[in-house]
Amino acid sequence: MSHKKIPLAGVIGHPVSHSRSPALHGFWLRSYGLSGYYVPMDVAPADLEAVLRGLHKAGFVGVNITIPHKEAALALADEVSDRAKLIGSANTLVLAEDGSIFADNTDGYGFIANLRQSAPDWEPSAGPAAVLGAGGAARAIIVSLLEAGVPEIRLCNRTKARAEALAESFGPKVRVYDWEEAAAIFDGVATAVNTTSLGMEGQPPFDISLDLLPETALATDIVYIPLLTAFLQRAQAQGCRIVDGLGMLLHQGRPGFERWFGQSPEVTEALRIEVLGQ
Ligand code: ATR
Repeated sequence: MSHKKIPLAGVIGHPVSHSRSPALHGFWLRSYGLSGYYVPMDVAPADLEAVLRGLHKAGFVGVNITIPHKEAALALADEVSDRAKLIGSANTLVLAEDGSIFADNTDGYGFIANLRQSAPDWEPSAGPAAVLGAGGAARAIIVSLLEAGVPEIRLCNRTKARAEALAESFGPKVRVYDWEEAAAIFDGVATAVNTTSLGMEGQPPFDISLDLLPETALATDIVYIPLLTAFLQRAQAQGCRIVDGLGMLLHQGRPGFERWFGQSPEVTEALRIEVLGQ
């Protein structure tokens, strides 16, 4: 009789109780009948290195990394994927047999994969993209939009200096606009993205006009509570196709799950309902 170890994975954050990743990976483990566990781990920043170094010996095959550890995890890794390097943070770690840590960032992948699945006829090269917000999520999204062939990105953030710092590494394809001009960046775009927390439950409402957004555009939000944000409602009122933010979260989990548990998982309606219900 073989005594194969049951693979362990999980998510490390601080706090971590809000994370939907245990529901996401738990659903996949059950639906594919795999043996394995996925656990939330609340780790203080001062303890991150020791915890990461001990994971392999404790039986872990990998972990997801969330706020506030995404940059620190990248710095602690032994090997880093190109996309994690470009984004400047890690959300997925894979532990090798010798315990070494490989860091990847699948946020941009999840963003694009969600749009491809939800709006198969979306054509990123059809026109400029408008991106609101300049946080960590915006960086991953900009990297992935440029990789997908978007010709120009109009970036607008309340704190302009943050948008300028972000744009700097991308060259002339990313242009920064004043927050007061936010409504104007939607003129003639093919893709519109809200990466700010405006409209999220408990945050200020989204109140930027989308009157200039063409009906041919695809609009998507990274906020998924509520699913139908004010940004998406306004885009829908313009006649646009909309894609909610839940799918990005679900798709970003797929590469890690496949590496850890050996099964490529799907994003289905049943999964959406399960993760939303948590
Ligand atoms: P993340 O890294 O996960 O994207 P973040 O760094 O907190 O999260 O970024 C949140 C984004 O929402 C930022 O672009 C932030 O703008 P600032 O850089 O000016 O802080 C934006 N945001 C948050 N609250 C906002 C508000 N009331 N009005 C406009 N933008 C807001």
